[in-house]
Amino acid sequence: MKEPVLQMKHIFKTFGLIKANQDVSLSVYPGEIHALLGENGAGKSTLMNILMGIYRPDSGEIWYKGKPADIHTPKDAVELGIGMVHQHFRLIPTLTVAENVFLNSGKKTFFLHHDEMQKEIRECSEQYNLQVTPEALVWQLSVGEQQRVEIVKLLHQGTEILILDEPSAVLTPQEAQNMFDTLRKMADNGKAVIVISHKMNEVMHNADRITVLKGGMVEDTMLASEATIERLTKAVVGDRTLSEQQKDDSAKEGRERIGTEPLYIMKQVSAKNDRGLPALKQISLEIYPGEIFGIAGVAGNGQRELSEVMAGLRPVTDGSCFLDGNDVTKASAKQLIKEGVAFVPEDRRQMGLVLDLPMPLNIILKSYHSERYSRHGILRTPVMWADAANYVDKYDIKHGGLELPVALMSGGNQQKLLFAREVSGKPRMIVATYPVRGLDIGAAESIRSILREQSEAGAAVVFISEELEDIFGFCDRVGVLCDGELMGIRRVEETDFQEIGRMMSGERGDAV
Ligand SMILES: Nc1ncnc2c1ncn2[C@@H]1O[C@H](COP(=O)(O)OP(=O)(O)OP(=O)(O)O)[C@@H](O)[C@H]1O
Ligand SMILES: [Mg+2]
Repeated sequence: MKEPVLQMKHIFKTFGLIKANQDVSLSVYPGEIHALLGENGAGKSTLMNILMGIYRPDSGEIWYKGKPADIHTPKDAVELGIGMVHQHFRLIPTLTVAENVFLNSGKKTFFLHHDEMQKEIRECSEQYNLQVTPEALVWQLSVGEQQRVEIVKLLHQGTEILILDEPSAVLTPQEAQNMFDTLRKMADNGKAVIVISHKMNEVMHNADRITVLKGGMVEDTMLASEATIERLTKAVVGDRTLSEQQKDDSAKEGRERIGTEPLYIMKQVSAKNDRGLPALKQISLEIYPGEIFGIAGVAGNGQRELSEVMAGLRPVTDGSCFLDGNDVTKASAKQLIKEGVAFVPEDRRQMGLVLDLPMPLNIILKSYHSERYSRHGILRTPVMWADAANYVDKYDIKHGGLELPVALMSGGNQQKLLFAREVSGKPRMIVATYPVRGLDIGAAESIRSILREQSEAGAAVVFISEELEDIFGFCDRVGVLCDGELMGIRRVEETDFQEIGRMMSGERGDAV
């Protein structure tokens, strides 16, 4: 039996009243992929941040290669050979891949030996089948590529223990599989890999062992070969049962809720992406009140631009949009909010929340001028606080205090807050971009049921997702985007995974 390369022993960490980690012990062996699972706010990121020297535990020990290790700063961790790919990448966009990899690597010759840098990176990426282009500028890369650069950077630092915080949340299924293949190669070379994920199937297939955290404690730990969806679900959400079957049925029933006149119409709409290149090409679609309209496609094929056009955040270069018969092609985001268009953006940290502000202020960001929140130019603080408390209740948002900056909430809980703010009230149309990404299964289900409630109340819901299970289990119709074009629209009961998959890769189908 091999010795563990890393042991975290009886780790405790509190933030104010929140017990983020309570007596957590974790052993990691060289050669294994160890998955960390658990609901939003369970303490996964905190535990890894302690390992990285970002937080100090209140008590507990970390042993590394058989000896107690004193990790005070991230630098200490890196020097020991522990490295982390954070969920929000930390590359410098205006530098090249090579420069990013070598930055902070301690090599003084930084700008001098471009050829050598590139050669070293090529070797490393070939060994692990990580395709990166050393001379490319980081801002030009897709998220998948940026993640590979982060991994190459860690390998180049000589990392022995790699931690990845929700690495597949932003990847397409194919990219995620490639990433796990790479991680497997690293494990085979004797490295240890810790992966945080919410995707049960993914960890069952790719990890060796799984540890589930719940309420800051270890709830269960098992060999991946012994894991079942039932056991993992029980460990993650407890006895609250989720009936998949029931959900599927309810989604498909009640078609009569869908109106007969479209609420939103796009006619031959084109738009550009941030780099000025064509991102949407002549998109035409109609969305009905009460309908849940899915947009499927590999991420990066125009979904973001489409959702931003719908929300009035991106100019249309050609074509027109109508809401309830009115031309809204040139309407601003503010006008559309007034018209009842709610938008859940993809990048919640940049577009959705002001991380330094507490929850009540984040709630009113888009509606501080409304009557609800201001009278005669004075903010109605008690209303804001009461609304925040309501959201916390309804969406089960975990937090350390309403008065604290939302930056201190866990990733999934920030997302629930943003969602609550956007869909509260009576939106006529909700544009939700990857709304359940990064959420635990319980939270994901409550988000779906809120969207369903809104659609039953007559709202048109646009649901952008790359998870076909979600699209099929939840939507009435689905449109497929590929390379900025709408490849076709289908009723979900009249199509299947194969057909949608073919359309995702560029095969055209006829609209219904
Ligand atoms: N710096 C901080 N100050 C105050 N509270 C914090 C801080 N960091 C985390 N917390 C709280 O500790 C708890 C655990 O958070 P953590 O980020 O570890 O959860 P997580 O398991 O990573 O969740 P998610 O899946 O949503 O990312 C949460 O309730 C969070 O609000
Ligand atoms: Mg986290």
